[in-house]
Amino acid sequence: MIRKCLFPVAGYGTRFLPATKSMPKEMMPVVNKPLVQYGVEEAFQAGMTDMAFVTGRGKRAIPDHFDISYELEAQIAGTDKEDRLTDIRHLIQNCTFTYTRQKQMLGLGHAILTGETLIGDQPFGVVLADDLCITDGDGVLAQMVQLYKQFRCTIVAIEEVPAGETDKYGIIKGEEVRDDIYRVETMVEKPAPGEAPSDLAIIGRYILTPDIFDLLRETPVGKGGEIQLTDALMRQAQTGCVMAYRFKGRRFDCGSVDGFVEATNYCYEHLYRKARAPAEVASLVKKG
Ligand code: G1P
Repeated sequence: MIRKCLFPVAGYGTRFLPATKSMPKEMMPVVNKPLVQYGVEEAFQAGMTDMAFVTGRGKRAIPDHFDISYELEAQIAGTDKEDRLTDIRHLIQNCTFTYTRQKQMLGLGHAILTGETLIGDQPFGVVLADDLCITDGDGVLAQMVQLYKQFRCTIVAIEEVPAGETDKYGIIKGEEVRDDIYRVETMVEKPAPGEAPSDLAIIGRYILTPDIFDLLRETPVGKGGEIQLTDALMRQAQTGCVMAYRFKGRRFDCGSVDGFVEATNYCYEHLYRKARAPAEVASLVKKG
């Protein structure tokens, strides 16, 4: 029912310089898979097949990744390396990928509004690929789609963060309607610790209803001189309905070096190593 997912991927990734000087930060690999592919797989698992990207200059590696590389296919055809492309081939075969460029970096709200041309008039998912979410069962977006079916309004994913870190996130406060769901009453972008209405932070997964575009058009420049999605969502919460959902799973802030390394260690241990024969891993460890 929700077919489209928007990926704002125009950001510079300055925290990872020099790695991101000529490579998009979304292409940084967590073990052997680029961050953005984790996001696309999560959207696909939630039933979304139209992947829409808001890109910028220097991001060509992303469209290349989600396209067939004939030379590579010819090189590895019939070898034991072929299975390394199974997952990405599956996405390429079953999804469409569309792109538009954000010409100026005016914030997440501006990036989402730039994506309107790819989304049109329908509810859609949003994935901020920096936030890598690992779950046991359904992915975070799939969990949110279930809720959307029930509430038919915008849903934001949240988690508790340490009180001293509220200035890194959009923070919500709301009425608890179930132990993991709040009806949002207040929302503030990156409040200083001590001024935050709660410790419930928005993480980079949203299901947005298309009225968000009109709200974004009217949203004045906010925190950090940028057009903030959080400000438009606050208006939406006042006039309609926004639900916040405490998702099941683990989130890694791969926009920071610490979070990225943590995610790499976790994925190596829990996803990659588990999926490979113990003997193969043992020989790798021996080789160093
Ligand atoms: C953005 C949003 C913020 C949200 C965060 C989640 O901030 O503006 O509300 O909490 O993503 O990762 P950014 O991290 O892009 O500064």
